[in-house]
Formats: sequence, C-alpha cells, structure tokens
Amino acid sequence: MKIAIIGTGYVGLVSAACFAELGHEVIGVDIDEAKVKRLKSGQSTIFEPGLEELLVRNTESGRLSFTTEITEALPECAVLFCAVATPPNKDYTADLRAVFAVCDSVAENIDHDLIFVNKSTVPVGTGKECEKHITSILEKRGLRFSIPVISNPEFLREGTAVQDTLHPDRIVVGVNGDEHAQKVMEELYAPLVRTEKPLVFMSRESAEIVKYASNSFLATKISFINMLTELCEVTGGSIRDVAKGMGLDERIGSRFLHAGIGYGGSCFPKDVKALMAIGKKLNVPMPIVKATHDVNDRQRERFFQTLVNTLPEKATIGVWGLAFKPNTDDLRDAPSRDLLPMLVKTGHIVRAFDPVAMDNAKKAFPKGVEYMSTALEAAKEADAVILLTEWDVFRGIDLKELKAAMRGRSLFDGRNVYDPEEVRAAGLLYFGIGVK
Ligand SMILES: NC(=O)c1ccc[n+]([C@@H]2O[C@H](COP(=O)([O-])OP(=O)(O)OC[C@H]3O[C@@H](n4cnc5c(N)ncnc54)[C@H](O)[C@@H]3O)[C@@H](O)[C@H]2O)c1
Repeated sequence: MKIAIIGTGYVGLVSAACFAELGHEVIGVDIDEAKVKRLKSGQSTIFEPGLEELLVRNTESGRLSFTTEITEALPECAVLFCAVATPPNKDYTADLRAVFAVCDSVAENIDHDLIFVNKSTVPVGTGKECEKHITSILEKRGLRFSIPVISNPEFLREGTAVQDTLHPDRIVVGVNGDEHAQKVMEELYAPLVRTEKPLVFMSRESAEIVKYASNSFLATKISFINMLTELCEVTGGSIRDVAKGMGLDERIGSRFLHAGIGYGGSCFPKDVKALMAIGKKLNVPMPIVKATHDVNDRQRERFFQTLVNTLPEKATIGVWGLAFKPNTDDLRDAPSRDLLPMLVKTGHIVRAFDPVAMDNAKKAFPKGVEYMSTALEAAKEADAVILLTEWDVFRGIDLKELKAAMRGRSLFDGRNVYDPEEVRAAGLLYFGIGVK
C-alpha cells in the first residue's frame, strides 16, 4: 500500500521506517529542508536504537523515500498519516496549527479519495474539526472526494520506539463506523496483528481520549510515588521500600513506581497539561490530573532547592545526563532544561556529559556550560555531581574512582539509582529523593 507520513520527527520517522519494513511503500514529508536532506542521504536525524539500520535498508530497497513537497507524496497515496508536533500553548491547550496546516495542504492538493489518519496527539473533537476543515476547502475547489479523518494515536516510547512500533501492546483506531477506512487499517496493520496483538477499533472520540488518558494515568502513578517521597523524608521511611511493598501487589504492579526528580519529555508534561485544558474548556473537572501536574512541578522544585541549600558559592558541578530519559537525544522538558540555566546564572561552573544528547544540548543550553567527553571527566575537580538521567553508564560508575576524581564529596541522585550505603562507603555524601 502507498502511504504518506507527514512530519518525520520522533513519531513520523520511526513509523515511516517501520511501515516500510512491513512492506509498504512509504514517503515521508517534512517542511524542515535540512532534515529531509539528511534523511535522503540515509542518515537518521534522531538517536533511536535500531532506527538507522531500518532507514538504510528500506531506502536502499526503494520502499522508503523523503521529500519536502506534499504534492510529491499525494499521487496514488491511499493513506496519509499526520505525525506533526502538537506542543503546549501558554494556557496548556495543544497547539494544533501544524495539524491544520497539514489539513490545508492535503485539501488544497488532493485529487482522489484518501484516508487521513491523525497520529499526532490531539484533543477530543479535533478529528471532527479536521474533517470539516478539509471538506470546506474541497467544496471551495468544487470537489467531492471522500477524505475521512480517523484517529490512530501513537504509544511508542522514545528509546524503544522501533521495538514498540513493530511489537505494540495494542493499536487503537477511531473510525466512527467507516467500514472502508476500517478495512484499510486492518490491511495496513495486518503484519503486526498476525503476532496476535490486538487491533482495537472504537469511535474517533474514544481513540482521541485514550491517548491523553494513558499518558496522564502513567504520569499519575509517577506523581503518586513522588508525593510519598516527602512523607518518607519527614518520617525516616525509604521510598524504595515503600515502592517495593506496594509494587509486589499484582493489582498495583512495580512499573512507574520509581521515585525521582519527576517526569519530563515531549509527552507526559504536555499531555497532562492538555487534559487539564480539555477539562477546563468542556467544564469537566480533572482534579487528579491537576494534582499529578502540581506534584511533578513541586518534585523538581524540591530537588533544586536541596541543591541551592547545599552547594557552595561558585561551585564546580558535574552534570550527568541531559536527555529527559536514557536512550534518547530528546531534551524536551528534561530537568536539565531548567537546571543548567539556573546553575550557570548563579555563577556555578557547569561541566556536563550525556552519551548522545550533547549535540542537541549545545544548541539548547546557554553559553557557559562546558561539555565533557566522559562521566568521570565531567566529575573531575567537581564539588558536586548531579545525576539527572539514569543512563547505564552512570549506574555502572566506580564510586571510588568518582570520589578520587572529585574535589568535593556531594552526589545528588535525581533518579535514585545508587545505594546510599555504597555511596557513603566510597566516602561520598549521598542526596537522594525520599531515601536517607
Ligand atoms: N515523541 C514521542 O515519544 C511521542 C509518542 C507518542 C505520540 N507523540 C505525538 O506525536 C506527535 C509528533 O511528535 P514528535 O515527537 O514526533 O514531534 P517532532 O517535533 O519530533 O516531529 C514533528 C515533525 O513535523 C514536522 N512538521 C511540522 N509541520 C509540518 C508540516 N506542515 N508539514 C510537514 N512536516 C511538518 C517538523 O519539522 C518535525 O520534523 C505529537 O502530537 C506527539 O504528542 C509523540
């Protein structure tokens, strides 16, 4: 089947490579010329394990290509995926300008029936609005093509995106009873459904809600355990033991019960905020979602406050990890985005290291951050080391070597990855979250 994917970012690029791998003919479209130029030369524009291999194999086979021109992608295209970004506005609503820009380009250029699939995360009701928008442009052009807008929210996780796409827990499709669209989606996903993963059809509105509900639920689990870190600190409890004691209950489960500096990234913060905004707009209370957001903000703030209270003036600080989580180069809403400018502004010397996010960091952070080539180099002569991302390379560090490299002794563990006793045995001072 010939498909077009509009937007070749973290979602669009992985989807394009995986659909091509499944045998479809895929063309990826992006307005970013530099990105498309790089993709055309067979290079990945993001760090994602296993992705480059798929890109090379499928571009070489001719099943995958890239362009900046949507008009090159539309001829004979049966299904078009919209995978552009929907970042938060100041009032927390989702910025849908890119989604409607794609609707415009499609409606202004299409000359046949097409299924428009929204893969971008959008508020409930957006699919309906997109469909109306496209129809009104077609009417102005005096045309009457069938262009249903269906919802197919994306659940991939950065860092395991290829694996998640090729082996999904579920594929959710909101079609509002359009039998043809449903049949085409069944055909498209047939290679994945053969592995017995459920392809779940529902109304477009339900599918749009599922995406925000899933992310907000996971974020709530994180905020719940983070809320209890403060109680542990005040009472002498250990959040690790509390999480273990809770997580062994199968009804609760241990995943997403790892306390730390709070969630970040391109999805949880913005989707939690957007669900709050949806509730506000529709006058439907979302108290749990608001509490999730507030706890997350407070958690980041509390960690920063501990730093401010503990660090000497004009300290030299090693920062370990800049990406919002391991195995990605994505810096969107990462704790480092708040922390590094604050440290530089208050006169500290900041030496940072991240295994893959350094190039993005150099563009994103203020002047004054020094970029080092190893974890120990970032820690050299440092008064304190702050772990922000739990990359394996930091988990496996030799604590005695770390102590020997540093000038001071403070280790701030924003992800609770170290055993406090082991850290202290190496002669360091341990600052974790909800643990002593
Ligand atoms: N990143 C994730 O882990 C993830 C997971 C699930 C869902 N989502 C959702 O998927 C959507 C895309 O997220 P992302 O992280 O891939 O975003 P991204 O910013 O990485 O990529 C978006 C791409 O769209 C391009 N673009 C913007 N306007 C365009 C237009 N009019 N025509 C063609 N290209 C255009 C941009 O240049 C960019 O390359 C968002 O709604 C997001 O919430 C993201």
